[in-house]
Amino acid sequence: MAAQRRAENTPAAVAMIDTSTPHPARRYNYWLGGKDHFAADRESGDAIAAVFPHVREAALQNRWFLQRAVAYLAGQAGIRQFLDVGVGIPLSPNTHEIAQDFAPDCRVVYVDNDPIVLTHARALLTSDPAGATAYVEADLRDPAAILDDPGVHHTIDLSQPVGLLLVAVLHFLDDDEATRAVAELRAALAPGSYIVLSHGTTDYVSVETAARIPALQQDNEVRFQPRSREQVAGFVAGLYAVDPAPPAPGTVAPLVPIDRSGPQLVSVVRWRPDRSAHDLPRDEDVACYGVVAGMPDGATRPAGAMPAASPVASTDVTSRDANHEPGRG
Ligand SMILES: C[S@@+](CC[C@H](N)C(=O)[O-])C[C@H]1O[C@@H](n2cnc3c(N)ncnc32)[C@H](O)[C@@H]1O
Repeated sequence: MAAQRRAENTPAAVAMIDTSTPHPARRYNYWLGGKDHFAADRESGDAIAAVFPHVREAALQNRWFLQRAVAYLAGQAGIRQFLDVGVGIPLSPNTHEIAQDFAPDCRVVYVDNDPIVLTHARALLTSDPAGATAYVEADLRDPAAILDDPGVHHTIDLSQPVGLLLVAVLHFLDDDEATRAVAELRAALAPGSYIVLSHGTTDYVSVETAARIPALQQDNEVRFQPRSREQVAGFVAGLYAVDPAPPAPGTVAPLVPIDRSGPQLVSVVRWRPDRSAHDLPRDEDVACYGVVAGMPDGATRPAGAMPAASPVASTDVTSRDANHEPGRG
């Protein structure tokens, strides 16, 4: 019943925090310039930075991808429910803040398995009164526990479209765990839902850097499984990619079927960027794929014509995104 635990900052919750080993949420917080990390997290983060010097930039770019994708779903695709799995230590603007900026009635469930996130989760429970947020402590490796949790069912209606966020989390699961988790969550989503996925990769980095990663993992105590384009595409194969290039004004971007070789996947920095191409960091410095994948609404549309879920289309997501960078509040 892990999932029954709600946001709390009790001594018992704090006591569950193991400061002696690095944890992904705290290490990510360290890279992003937050305050919620311990020596083990910083050592681990610095060891990774020694091999991959742009890891802080990569973390930021991943975070900004999440923000642009949520803005797209709430602002243009009409999504009003979100399930954000592997949310991390809160960092404003969080998913509900971005989504409710477009539609105050958005409902968001956050999930993480790290007790430190639980102790900070109150910051995720600041919903607009028109909407709702909930925090559920659960493990992505047990997707049934997430799907069966009362906190999920009280907050979102799984018979209606949901934006499922799996952002920078699947690479902490091994192949079997990740494949099963995505398959089970996908199967539970209603037509018209979307999956926002980002995932670390060594595809963009030099052979020398890639070769140093296995040893780094052994030393770091945190399992991390970078995956190839084909492996990441496999999680969303059969769905429809939102075109990473913003459509021309007044047009609706086509949704392209995703196949297992994954040409539809781009570096997170190239997913509807909010700056010009020459201001973007290099793909090899970020080393992270990003995709927003829609599930066809087979009930009302012919297969292959994944629709925008509701006509909110003219919102200018790109310019609003600029206000959503961490630190800009
Ligand atoms: C790198 S952070 C990403 C945070 C946020 N999604 C983002 O992209 O800004 C990864 C998060 O996934 C969580 N996580 C890792 N493995 C998990 C699992 N098996 N179940 C649930 N959460 C997990 C970590 O605790 C951490 O908070």
